[in-house]
Amino acid sequence: MGEERGTALVTGASRGIGRAVAIELDARGYDVVATMRDVSAGEGLPTGIRVERLDVTDRTTIDLPTSLRIVVNNAGVETDNLPIEHGDVDLHWKHLFEANVFGLVRVTQAAIPVLRSNGGGVICNVTSSSILAPVPFLGMYRASKAAVMAMGESLAAEVAPFGIRVIEVMPGPIVTDMLLGGDHPAEAIAHPEYADLARRMYENRAHVRDQYTPADEAARRIVSAIEDDGHAPGRAPLRYGCDDLSEGMLTGWRATSHDAWIAAILPAFS
Ligand SMILES: NC(=O)c1ccc[n+]([C@@H]2O[C@H](COP(=O)([O-])OP(=O)(O)OC[C@H]3O[C@@H](n4cnc5c(N)ncnc54)[C@H](OP(=O)(O)O)[C@@H]3O)[C@@H](O)[C@H]2O)c1
Repeated sequence: MGEERGTALVTGASRGIGRAVAIELDARGYDVVATMRDVSAGEGLPTGIRVERLDVTDRTTIDLPTSLRIVVNNAGVETDNLPIEHGDVDLHWKHLFEANVFGLVRVTQAAIPVLRSNGGGVICNVTSSSILAPVPFLGMYRASKAAVMAMGESLAAEVAPFGIRVIEVMPGPIVTDMLLGGDHPAEAIAHPEYADLARRMYENRAHVRDQYTPADEAARRIVSAIEDDGHAPGRAPLRYGCDDLSEGMLTGWRATSHDAWIAAILPAFS
């Protein structure tokens, strides 16, 4: 089964969503390469999964298997949640874009010729449902994910003739180090002009805590999205959620224009 389906490679599979996706792909019979910056973090993964070093910010570590059919561009970072006024371009913006955008592009560029020569496959970009919500102090992170969103749309059109499907998964709150590590007031609170808003945003977080979704559930939905290839040409969805919150947001967003959607939910954040 694994051989017929080819190899699925996941970036950032040391922990969190990426690790859970690698495990789910393995459980569904794929030949899986779990890539990570430090291969010792691969300990404890099922024995059928191959662990390889890959740092998306270091081109020399990007060495993809010739049998590649699926790439899950999952590796991602966040940074201090600061107002746009105070986010430092060299420190915060470049850190985000180096991994979340340029790193993902590096892996994608390496994958396309391999997928093409194998007759097609799937490129699955993990962005964020936060793109759909004008959350204060998340502007830098959202911008990095929105760059991938726009890039993925053009990519989908470019590589469809090669039989390559591009999908975007936009997680809501998934229980990982990233989510739990960010469960504190935004660093914006240190700036007096923004402290009130930062405090209110943190209080509002209580409303979504009961919607935190375990990573293995998110992984099941992500792999189902990867396998969702039974649509008529031109009718396949480009975007998926992987938890109830993100699926609900996508439904709301699809039901209206982007402008009208943002205008309707902006008051919740201001
Ligand atoms: N959890 C959520 O609620 C949520 C919501 C929306 C979107 N997302 C997105 O989902 C993806 C996975 O997030 P997560 O929650 O699982 O985060 P996480 O627990 O912080 O894990 C992030 C993963 O990315 C890896 N990574 C970071 N920089 C890398 C690099 N330069 N090269 C290769 N791997 C790198 C990390 O590796 P190390 O172990 O080496 O650091 C780790 O494996 C990210 O793209 C994130 O932005 C998550």
